[in-house]
Amino acid sequence: MDRLAGNARLMIVSDLDHTMVDHHDPENLSLLRFNALWESNYRGDSLLVFSTGRSPTLYKELRKEKPMITPDITILSVGTEITYGNSMVPDDGWVEFLNQKWDRNIVAEETSKFTELKLQAETEQRPHKVSFYVQKDKAQEITKALSKRFEERGLDVKIIYSGGMDLDILPQGAGKGQALAYLHKIFKAKSKLPKNTLVCGDSGNDAELFTIPDVHGVMVSNAQEELLQWHAANAKNNPKVIHATERCAAGIIQAIGHFNLGPSTSPRDVTDLSDSKMESFDPAYEVVKFYLFYERWRRAEVENSELYLANLKAVCSPTGNFVHPSGIEKPLHDCVSSLRTCYGDKQGKQFRVWVDQVLPVQIGSDAWFVKFKKWEQSGETLFPSFLIHKIYTSPKHPLPLLHN
Ligand code: GLC
Ligand code: MG
Repeated sequence: MDRLAGNARLMIVSDLDHTMVDHHDPENLSLLRFNALWESNYRGDSLLVFSTGRSPTLYKELRKEKPMITPDITILSVGTEITYGNSMVPDDGWVEFLNQKWDRNIVAEETSKFTELKLQAETEQRPHKVSFYVQKDKAQEITKALSKRFEERGLDVKIIYSGGMDLDILPQGAGKGQALAYLHKIFKAKSKLPKNTLVCGDSGNDAELFTIPDVHGVMVSNAQEELLQWHAANAKNNPKVIHATERCAAGIIQAIGHFNLGPSTSPRDVTDLSDSKMESFDPAYEVVKFYLFYERWRRAEVENSELYLANLKAVCSPTGNFVHPSGIEKPLHDCVSSLRTCYGDKQGKQFRVWVDQVLPVQIGSDAWFVKFKKWEQSGETLFPSFLIHKIYTSPKHPLPLLHN
């Protein structure tokens, strides 16, 4: 998070399952739309935080299944684990804080007395999180009885019911909201409090995100009953929280627009990608646009016309280079020419391309160095995982290009 020199323009703190990720959309279109919007307009000066109930193991699985970009901060296991950056460095201060007033053994002992509680998978049992499945109609009664038992044992815990089936027991000071409050505190101490924070969720464990002071919030259209009920009882008159009419990531984009937090048109929704704004050259935007064109070209969703290639060549710097992760450099013009051989080779296939961590650095008055990861999905497989591509380009001739 020290990547940004100043205050983030926007910090998005989003739940994953059924919020950022729509498990009912096999095409993952709203997620891909969000990715393109984030990389083209926000990556450079904003912070992306994923806040999930998943353990590190299940989070990594999700990243292999769905076309996701890389967050700056990952909050895992219902706000009990906070990690930073690509290598997911844990926040030890948070662990230390949660260790106070927590006794996992007492939780295990008391919960074992309830036959209605079915223990979740071993991967989901974490140092500060004990998780079960409970039938919806039993949830309230069990929560009450459990709270009483813990109180009698002098243990201050938080019991959260989510998704109409999951029951998590955490230290009282943990949870997604508390983890966000902790991050805000750290940013404030460094005078780097984000200018705006948008929290996004769909289920019970997201509720406390909406209670953090000064945040904007969106409950996606497909939010669970338990979150909507919580909202009706606790936050109905808060104009900073909306219930989107759009599902999942499309609801997040809708909220960005609703609260005027910045641009809210995804480049994926732009049909004419050749419409380049030369006067406000933005290398990140150009990289995103280029790969969208590349996807459409290979899916044969644009016409197979030499005109497109000629246009690409005309706007791209003759001295610009593409650097493949292997280290091999290729002039951008050659890259454009090689597009001829792959037109339509992914027609009718589930082929998607998205770029991740697009970070341009200006290295001269008319030269940029753009580092990014390019991901592709072909059918069920996502690849490559961690290739870093680099492009040199020039703002006077703005179009950076690809390898293929
Ligand atoms: C995720 C976790 C699970 C937890 C649930 C609700 O599904 O894997 O352990 O109970 O989120 O927080
Ligand atoms: Mg969710």
